[in-house]
Amino acid sequence: MKKTILGIESSCDDTSAAVIQDGFLLSNIIANQDIHKKYGGVVPELASRAHQQNIVPVVRAAIKEAKINEKEISAIAFTRGPGLLGSLLVGTSFAKGLALSLNIPIIEVNHLQAHVLSHFIKIKNKQNEEPKFPFLCLLVSGGHSQILLVRDFLNMEVLGNTIDDAAGEAFDKCAKIIGLEYPGGPLIDKLAKSGIEDRFVFSKPKIKGFDYSFSGLKTSFLYFIRDEIEKNKDFIEQNKADLCASVQKTIIDILLDKLMLAQKETGIMDIAIAGGVSANSGLRDRLKFEAKNRNWNLFIPAFEFTTDNAAMIAINGYHKLLKNDFASQSITPLARFNNGI
Ligand code: KG4
Ligand code: ZN
Repeated sequence: MKKTILGIESSCDDTSAAVIQDGFLLSNIIANQDIHKKYGGVVPELASRAHQQNIVPVVRAAIKEAKINEKEISAIAFTRGPGLLGSLLVGTSFAKGLALSLNIPIIEVNHLQAHVLSHFIKIKNKQNEEPKFPFLCLLVSGGHSQILLVRDFLNMEVLGNTIDDAAGEAFDKCAKIIGLEYPGGPLIDKLAKSGIEDRFVFSKPKIKGFDYSFSGLKTSFLYFIRDEIEKNKDFIEQNKADLCASVQKTIIDILLDKLMLAQKETGIMDIAIAGGVSANSGLRDRLKFEAKNRNWNLFIPAFEFTTDNAAMIAINGYHKLLKNDFASQSITPLARFNNGI
């Protein structure tokens, strides 16, 4: 019998549902929430409401596009956390209710583990290069910056973590300082393409081990801009591309320094990236350059699986289904996980 998973993702500001059958993706529907743009960041209460509005049509669309009957679904995988509690509650409650009505089990998924497993989503008639275990994964998103040692589909260890802001937050906060809309990461990426990356120099953290810190960069960027605007009120407009290129380079340098350290200490040659920031073209180019020089086997996910999506939740659910790892109907979402993964 075919193993069919409906995945549901609602941890932040994207409502998504996907169907994976025997490891192959049949559909992946994502509803973004534009409402947050005018507030310069995600407003949790508005996110929960938007999930409530979106979840039924999004799940319906995923089932329709997959061309399956809902009776074929073996189990429903949902994001248990980490994320915004109100947002997670919508997906969790919906998954429970639908599973009860279909008399099928539910599977809890850790959103971070799912980002890593996006490398294992199979697409029909498409060759997918998968990293071999154990591999290192640089997981960089709006909420997390981690270096993970991935031993198996469901066995991962956090080697390094951010002690304050995540890399995506650094992109978004610096973008906001120069007047760009939320989420600023993709806009910085675009503007950086026509800028000079070593025009401005910003501070880098001095932290031991594999941990990250990005709050110092944000502060140094803020003060630098404030001082320059005092001298020239048009400073931002006149230097936007160079500012974007320089701040992007700083973030990439910070990410790469620790990743290279972890690679050296573990000796692992298979290196993957995941999470929203892994869509960044500067980061991708730099990683390709380093990988070529250092003979790493580099794995970069398809763009559609970098930012939040339910396909990654469904593939994680699929691997848990293979181990009969189901959740109880009394499960509750978790905004944070103590061990991070
Ligand atoms: O993984 P994700 O969708 O959500 C979380 O789990 O946090 O990541 C969203 C983050 C945002 O901070 C966004 O600005 C960043 O990913 N991002 C980018 C790019 N695309 C998305 N950052 C830099 N360059 C990009 N091209
Ligand atoms: Zn995410």
